[in-house]
Amino acid sequence: MLEKAQQLAIAPISNFLVGAVGRGASGREYPGFNLEFPGLGLQHTVHAEQAVLALAHASGESALLEIEITHAPCGHCRQFLRELAAPLTIVLPKGRYSLEELLPYSFGPDDLGVAGGMLTGARPLQGQGAALARDAAECSWSPYSKMRAGVAVRCGEQWFGGSYLENAAFNPSLNPAQYALIVARAAGFASTDESLFYGDEGLYGASQAVLPGIRRA
Ligand code: THU
Ligand code: ZN
Repeated sequence: MLEKAQQLAIAPISNFLVGAVGRGASGREYPGFNLEFPGLGLQHTVHAEQAVLALAHASGESALLEIEITHAPCGHCRQFLRELAAPLTIVLPKGRYSLEELLPYSFGPDDLGVAGGMLTGARPLQGQGAALARDAAECSWSPYSKMRAGVAVRCGEQWFGGSYLENAAFNPSLNPAQYALIVARAAGFASTDESLFYGDEGLYGASQAVLPGIRRA
């Protein structure tokens, strides 16, 4: 599974392929892989660990118990994982660690008075096209800005949705277009045929950066 996840990575800038597998409380597993966007600022890059969280969120997973990664997670990913606000085991080639060991004395949702974490209230996204973009917006984890946004992408006949996921440290957050591309990639697609945006205008620019052809739903 880890190798399969790594094979989903698209990394034409670094040629550094990262794979990850998340294991949820439901028993389901979620792949993770990095996605790079040549010609765009590197801040648009999706890390493998972020892909795992987006896919767990998209499935309505209630908690992530463990994440196995081909390489040590960067500081930004440790912070992104902290948004789960729950104990997490990180399995690396060199051993098993708790997130708390890899990110001691950390900053998280509770520091801003927010109860719960990124998977709180997560449920499978529903619908197709504009209805899917609207549903994805509704499922945003955005307790800090309260903005909501969703993206729906079509690959052939299939639609994939993405929500906006925030972090207590504000950066790194995941925009809904990055999230939708993760879900499409997990299904094996490397390009999209159509993309729709619904929600707060403030998220449109970031979504358009990674999906230049996007339209408002
Ligand atoms: N990368 C990850 O996917 N996870 C990490 O935590 C380390 C870095 C990716 C991002 C970029 O595509 C490439 O590896 C080089 O940094
Ligand atoms: Zn990272």
